[in-house]
Amino acid sequence: MTLRTPQDDHPRVLITAGPTWEPIDEVRFLGNRSSGRLGSEIARAASGRSLPTTLLLGPGVTADLPSHLVVQRFHTTADLESHLRDFWPEHDILIMAAAVSDSRPARPLTGRKMPRRQESFNLRLESTPDLLAGLASLDHPGTRIGFALEADADLEGRARRKLASKDLHAIVANPLPTMDSDSIDGMFVPREGPARRPPGGSIPKSRFAAWLVEQALELHAMRSGG
Ligand code: CTP
Repeated sequence: MTLRTPQDDHPRVLITAGPTWEPIDEVRFLGNRSSGRLGSEIARAASGRSLPTTLLLGPGVTADLPSHLVVQRFHTTADLESHLRDFWPEHDILIMAAAVSDSRPARPLTGRKMPRRQESFNLRLESTPDLLAGLASLDHPGTRIGFALEADADLEGRARRKLASKDLHAIVANPLPTMDSDSIDGMFVPREGPARRPPGGSIPKSRFAAWLVEQALELHAMRSGG
């Protein structure tokens, strides 16, 4: 493992984006409505600043991405967990925009399709591991930034509680209407200090992404004593 020095001018950025698809059987899955658009824009913004950038990208997301970007696809929470294990040690900043499922079918039918049933039936779910919280215990000097998609009421308070429970360095608070939209009215909440918002209120995701990369670099430089 070759961790770079925190003073490095070009920190390596790892971004996750998109949903997870947890199989129920060979053709069905438990997913969510994440479009992966914001995460893809963040990756585009980071690589546009010549930062070495890796994007872990979920299923069903189509994005026109720069060819020099390293892209690794995932489907399930388990795939993403394994990619994070492989890639995070080689990066300095993690921006975790992926909408990771909190639960998954406990016993997916592999290689089969569930037949139609006349009666109602239960699908047993099990919890998935909290990937971000898990990374906090690693001996890694990098900067971990999470996302919190929340209802508008007490957006910052909810995001701060999530930041603390996952032991993050910052979190992006994201109001629910962000989903399915080309714009976002989000804020950057660092562990210490006040929350910051980009100028202009609700702005296109591409502009928010560029602003967010700026915030992430500033925070990382501050933490690294740069
Ligand atoms: N996350 C994760 N592993 C999970 C679930 C979420 O790493 N199993 C990450 C997401 O990528 C995001 C952050 O944790 O950066 C917050 O995700 P969110 O879904 O808002 O919160 P949860 O922890 O799942 O809590 P809740 O669903 O109760 O709001």
